[in-house]
Amino acid sequence: MPATEVVHTLAHPMPETPTKSMDEIVALCRRRGFIFQSSEIYGGINGFWDYGPLGTELKRNLKDAWWKDVVRCDTPGPNGESVHIVGVDCTIIMNPKVWEASGHVGGFNDPMVDCRESKARYRADHLTVLGAADASARLYAFVENDTDQRDKAIKTLLKYEKCDALDPARHLLRPFTQLTAEDRARCIGPDAKEVGTLTEPRQFNLMFKTNVGALEDPSNIAYLRPETAQGIFANFENVVNSTRVRIPFGIAQIGKAFRNEVTPRNFTFRSREFEQMEIEFFIHPTQANEWYAWWREQRFAWWQSIGLTSENLQLREHDRDELAHYAKTGAGTSDIEYRFPFSAPGFGELEGVAHRSDYDLCQHAEHSGRRDKMKYFDAEKNERYFPHVIEPSAGADRGTLALLCEAYTKDETRPSGVYMKFHPRMAPVKAGIFPLVNKDGLPEIAEKLYKELRKRHSCEYDPKQTIGKRYARMDEAGTPFCITIDTDTLTGQNVTIRHRDTQQQESMNIEKVPAWLAAQVGEA
Ligand code: GAP
Repeated sequence: MPATEVVHTLAHPMPETPTKSMDEIVALCRRRGFIFQSSEIYGGINGFWDYGPLGTELKRNLKDAWWKDVVRCDTPGPNGESVHIVGVDCTIIMNPKVWEASGHVGGFNDPMVDCRESKARYRADHLTVLGAADASARLYAFVENDTDQRDKAIKTLLKYEKCDALDPARHLLRPFTQLTAEDRARCIGPDAKEVGTLTEPRQFNLMFKTNVGALEDPSNIAYLRPETAQGIFANFENVVNSTRVRIPFGIAQIGKAFRNEVTPRNFTFRSREFEQMEIEFFIHPTQANEWYAWWREQRFAWWQSIGLTSENLQLREHDRDELAHYAKTGAGTSDIEYRFPFSAPGFGELEGVAHRSDYDLCQHAEHSGRRDKMKYFDAEKNERYFPHVIEPSAGADRGTLALLCEAYTKDETRPSGVYMKFHPRMAPVKAGIFPLVNKDGLPEIAEKLYKELRKRHSCEYDPKQTIGKRYARMDEAGTPFCITIDTDTLTGQNVTIRHRDTQQQESMNIEKVPAWLAAQVGEA
């Protein structure tokens, strides 16, 4: 937001109403076993989430697709040759010098504000204040994108100033970080009633600390990694020396990352424990522009290919003033963003694609004392150099959340009232297999088919309840196909296949089902 913005937009405060409600999505996730609060029986723990049976399959499908399509891809790069990527699987706790070299010990900070009245803690850069510029007027703080808080701030201001509407000439919006001490003294926190209860922003390091070994001593402090990327950089020399990779090539890793976020919020979107899917793609410094352009297009197309096809997905190039210090002179940084129900009409980041220059390798070379050894040697050109890096860095949990939000489709005509329209490749359960009735030899045939299909796919066998109720359960789970064994199967070998999205049914010879299903879910 610019330094000072008049409140024309707030004169009509309600944003475009999101068609999907986050509360309903969260409720379905819990009810159907996609995502639970971690340690729920003890009241939960803020910023930590568990995946249930359906969520585990969904997130695994996402990570498997990433590994298969991106890491093992043989798509030609901008140089016309197949892209070459290898994997690593590094530890979560590394030598703390890694984090000194990467800059995380000194600089991985968020500005944090505490409210002395409500005891709530906010990211200073997420707070906006509303109010008149004159020194006697009250200022009302709210968390950006939190429409409830924003509406409450407007209501309280109007009541206090005894007016009916905001005055764009007088009422201004400002980032909290730009307030002076005098401004803060007349500011009311989002969850407070008194003025002047918000503290000055203080830097807060986001890394979780622990101790390695028996003693709790400052000499053995270690950190839980806040990104998987540094394990890749720290192993660059090992990978080059132990494999036949030649530049351009990538190193990929999927794994947990931990950040002690000041304000975890919006379901799994900002968690304290999450999974990343990262590639560090090493190139000659002169190739940065072409590879950056190639990766940003590839990554955007990939998210579309797994079902994020709506206008809710966007690719956004960062403005120059948003860039990290080491990326200022580079080819650029882009974010792939999704319009979540809680961010609408704004967007939230799913993945960043950044030209990181040779910053990380140079830092590790310097801090480890392996200066020239960490350089890449091109024997053909007899050239030794620090390669540059294009980094596509995606969140597996944010990706899963975007798939859930995209899939959630209301349909009052169905008994379930809602169905999850997952891309068949992402669907946690590929097929439900039902005997029409639980007798007359139908369960035996259905179970045989189920056992055959589940060798390759996640499937569910359900012999109970009415067929309508069984369809409804599968609709909520996002199962693209239901296969019913009925008397036709006994007489003519045909099963009935019901398609989730259209609810249309087709008849198919039971022998053909395994190959047909594999083709439908992209596993032929
Ligand atoms: N190595 C670069 C890096 O870590 P980042 O933008 O901080 O960049 C990359 O993180 C991705 O990790 C983000 O696009 C997001 O999908 C995911 N991510 C970051 N912080 C997260 C959090 N607190 N909760 C869930 N996902 C997060």
